[in-house]
Amino acid sequence: MDGGFARSSKSVMETEMLENATTRVVDVAVVDGAKVASPAEPTTAALSLRDVAVSFNGRTAVRGATFDIARHRVTSLIGPSGSGKTTLLRALNRLHDRTPSAKVTGEILLDGHDVYRGDITLTELRSRVGMVFQRPNPFPTMSIRDNVVAGLRFSGVRKKSVLDEALEGSLRAAALWDEVDNRLKNSAASLSGGQQQRLCIARALAMNPEVLLMDEPTSALDPIATQRIEELMSSLKQRVTVVIVTHNMQQAARISDDCAFLLMGEDRAGELVEFSSTEKIFNDPADARTLDYISGRFG
Ligand SMILES: Nc1ncnc2c1ncn2[C@@H]1O[C@H](COP(=O)(O)OP(=O)(O)OP(=O)(O)O)[C@@H](O)[C@H]1O
Ligand SMILES: [Mg+2]
Repeated sequence: MDGGFARSSKSVMETEMLENATTRVVDVAVVDGAKVASPAEPTTAALSLRDVAVSFNGRTAVRGATFDIARHRVTSLIGPSGSGKTTLLRALNRLHDRTPSAKVTGEILLDGHDVYRGDITLTELRSRVGMVFQRPNPFPTMSIRDNVVAGLRFSGVRKKSVLDEALEGSLRAAALWDEVDNRLKNSAASLSGGQQQRLCIARALAMNPEVLLMDEPTSALDPIATQRIEELMSSLKQRVTVVIVTHNMQQAARISDDCAFLLMGEDRAGELVEFSSTEKIFNDPADARTLDYISGRFG
């Protein structure tokens, strides 16, 4: 189940998307469609979670999340339905802020700054940490072009050359440019589901985020569209740090560098069981419950 999505009407989603917009667009460096990867050391944490817990109406949905999300790597969140993967992911860019019953405790540090209690504004956070939702959610009444640059426009960018550069760079980075470059004015609704999801990835990338959060981005797609998005991951991580929720163990093994395994405890609250490199999780997990899960014994 997915409380987050059940709750989100389209208009809320669109508002959240637009909230991701910001004025921080000055340093988009696009070379052949890909931002030059920063020289940050690959082991440096983009996000650090310290004993993060999320509750709704006083009932704990997820707790005990302590791990580092390394820069320019793909981190997957895996675990059975209801273990709190979406809830934890949404906490990373404060998507629970609009839910009065939600409470987030612990620390989530973006580049060392606490995103809940520090000096980072919500607008800045949403520009630095982008989100791609489970179901492709392009703005259906807008053209392909307008979808990609919606956030930039919302943040006040008007210069056509800047918008065009971000448009092409983002669509190339999302591996969609070659399929749409001759119909950028067509409605986004005319695209296939897989293309729409890559459009949403391009829309998020246009804001030049440091981190891209993806909640089961391929679960609504066919195998070929899924494969295209999976192939995208290795190029995307040169540009952004990726955190992906997936139900698909093979997908986690194929595309992620690190894995966080969540499981519901006796009281049904999700908790972090193990965080490690994907290789270790799949070949030599520290916890017997991880082994049971990845070998398909439950979930
Ligand atoms: N807005 C909300 N209000 C109340 N409870 C919620 C809300 N959002 C999530 N929950 C609860 O938090 C728990 C974890 O849900 P979550 O959607 O994070 O699980 P998940 O691991 O993503 O599951 P799935 O794999 O089915 O998507 C569930 O018990 C869910 O009912
Ligand atoms: Mg979920």
